Amino acid sequence: MPTSEKTVIWAGTARRLTPTFAGEIRGLDLSRPLSDADFERVRALFLEHAVLVFRDQDLDDAALLAFTARFGPMDIHHLAEHLKKSQPEIRILSNDKKEGEYVGAHKSGMVWHTDQSFKERPMLATFLLGDDCPPEGGDTQFANMTAAYAALPGAMKERIDGLVAIHDRNFSYAERYPDRPPLTPEQLKEVPPVSHPLVRRHPETGQLGLFLALSDIRDIEGMDRAAALALVDELIDFATQDAFVYSHKWRDGDLVVWDNRCTMHRATPYNDHKYRRYMRRTQVRGDRPAAP
Ligand code: OGA
Ligand code: MN
Repeated sequence: MPTSEKTVIWAGTARRLTPTFAGEIRGLDLSRPLSDADFERVRALFLEHAVLVFRDQDLDDAALLAFTARFGPMDIHHLAEHLKKSQPEIRILSNDKKEGEYVGAHKSGMVWHTDQSFKERPMLATFLLGDDCPPEGGDTQFANMTAAYAALPGAMKERIDGLVAIHDRNFSYAERYPDRPPLTPEQLKEVPPVSHPLVRRHPETGQLGLFLALSDIRDIEGMDRAAALALVDELIDFATQDAFVYSHKWRDGDLVVWDNRCTMHRATPYNDHKYRRYMRRTQVRGDRPAAP
């Protein structure tokens, strides 16, 4: 890493990465405990930018967990096979194999989604730490759902006003993850279908945003399935236009934190094994999404 980057001093600000959202923070070492004042700044920047990129981090598990926990109650992912045995709050995402077995989830999040939208209390924030990042492939793309909602034509806003979507983890699971075992009855019990408004009010900023997830939304209440899924596709196409998207090109040591209450994201493919990708991931639970 160039020395000039290492010597940047944290001044409590972030550099904007797109005109409407996403910010980059340099010069803040998260391996050391943050003062309350610094954390308050980080929390404010998180609300302002929705996606924060912290460069040049060198974090052990304890430091990653300590930083995560300051945002709220940590959540343990329902798929135990990708969790660190010693630290179940940490999920491994990687295309790496050890003795013929994948060491983590190697195909996670490749369609547009918000994390665990199929839970009654979806994730507030997700933390992804790039330990080993490929020079190409495996970007993470984010869509600004507040800006997308604001830009919707009035007729579409009226059309979706009051609509409620049913999110169901099991809806397209087998189709998306043919190489994973089906969800067990115990896992299914943890993720029964839930209803969430299609437009939600952010509990902290008060802003309205689309709340969508391709392939986890199974139905919209009061609509037939084909029409519902066509509407979801149309909204996702609208929201993922270049004007609303930030594509993150990973560098080793990046910690990216995103607000799932007002963004959607996906990974671009990385399972061709050309380059290793190894990431540690944590998540914090949010509130039940509220209609406007
Ligand atoms: C996630 C996710 C995308 C990526 O961890 O929730 O969607 O780029 N990851 O790995
Ligand atoms: Mn995700």
